[in-house]
Amino acid sequence: MSDFFAYKEGRLCAERLDVAELAARYGTPLYIYSAAALSANLCAWQTALGERGAVCYAVKANSNLGVLSLLAARGCGFDIVSGGELERVLAAGGHPKTVVFSGVGKTVGELRAALRAGIGCFNLESAAELEMLNEAAGALGVQAPVAVRLNPDVNANTHPYIATGLRENKFGIDMAQAREVYARARDLPHIRVLGAGCHIGSQLTEIAPFEAALERILHLVDALAADGIELEHLDIGGGLGVAYRDESPPAPADLCAALLERLGGQRLRLVVEPGRSIAANAGILVTQVLLTKQTGVKNFAVVDAGMNDLLRPALYQAWMRIIPVLDQPRPAAVWDIVGPVCESGDFLGKDRTLGLAAGDLLCVRGAGAYSFCLSSNYNSRSRAAELMVCGERAQIVRQRETVADLLRGECPFALDAPQCA
Ligand code: LLP
Repeated sequence: MSDFFAYKEGRLCAERLDVAELAARYGTPLYIYSAAALSANLCAWQTALGERGAVCYAVKANSNLGVLSLLAARGCGFDIVSGGELERVLAAGGHPKTVVFSGVGKTVGELRAALRAGIGCFNLESAAELEMLNEAAGALGVQAPVAVRLNPDVNANTHPYIATGLRENKFGIDMAQAREVYARARDLPHIRVLGAGCHIGSQLTEIAPFEAALERILHLVDALAADGIELEHLDIGGGLGVAYRDESPPAPADLCAALLERLGGQRLRLVVEPGRSIAANAGILVTQVLLTKQTGVKNFAVVDAGMNDLLRPALYQAWMRIIPVLDQPRPAAVWDIVGPVCESGDFLGKDRTLGLAAGDLLCVRGAGAYSFCLSSNYNSRSRAAELMVCGERAQIVRQRETVADLLRGECPFALDAPQCA
């Protein structure tokens, strides 16, 4: 697979643009996305499924309107988990019929909004949600298309925070209760049963857990057929990993081939909800070294991006590759790349061998997914700008936040408060 962030004559480029020049023009910290990389990653999934299924990009991975509109224009569907994500998809020109709505805690307001928009499918996560949805659909005089998200109880061999398919996790409906839920769904007047689904975890690097989940769901499909319930699609969720370091996850083509083979001649369509495998390697975070600090025990490079900009290293001990933007000959040392936030957990990478000095630009790779979207204003820091590059052109797809943005919606306390005695 081609790399859209590569060095040309020692200078890192985003497609055909010079990253150092972009940083000078738009400032740092700066997220840069490659339109070509997003397209290529989506295309890999679409080609792998062909006519036999649909790709519903997991909006949570990167919900920038620039990203969503690019994917929508290429025929991508969307997996959403909130009313806010629905609004983003619609604003980006996504077609409601291509939307599936996942999530363990949908509110009645969110269910109604999605029914009004006419989304393609609700991925139900509990018996209680089924009743809520039936009532909401009845009130609007429509039928709600549903798939039941199952918890297949398989081990995805990933970080515990991003494993979701074990019985002890809050997600999905227990396999033992599934037939009962389907029978109830069949009997409810405002529900139309379409499918079954699961999502067993994220950053999976093997095909076997997906196959194990599909196997269990197919057993259920047979049992449901005996109950007179025929399904149209199976949604295997997202979860395919990427190479942050030395992982070698299967390609979408290999994963889909294995799953489609298992489906055999069945009429069932295969829905996938990839997030990371579409967005992660399509983005970088560019940050500048503010200063260096050598303590005798450690070498610290303090950069202008913190855990508020990129939380993955702090939250999941995630290892993300950090490379210089200008590849210049410098004596290398071992550095902790840390942010300015007042937390010891505020680092982008530890023990990295790099030749660097104050003022240098660094690039964090794999920052297109679960990166900007997890950013916050902690320490009253403005969130970074996001830039989309396409060949030799670039467009800001999110302005850097200003101080006015930071204070928006807040005001000083105006009531009489008790004084201390
Ligand atoms: N479908 C559902 C129902 C999900 O919960 C998720 C991710 C996906 C699809 C997309 O999974 P992907 O293809 O991106 O692996 N913040 C964490 C990842 C959290 C994933 C949550 N669910 C991280 O930075 O590693």
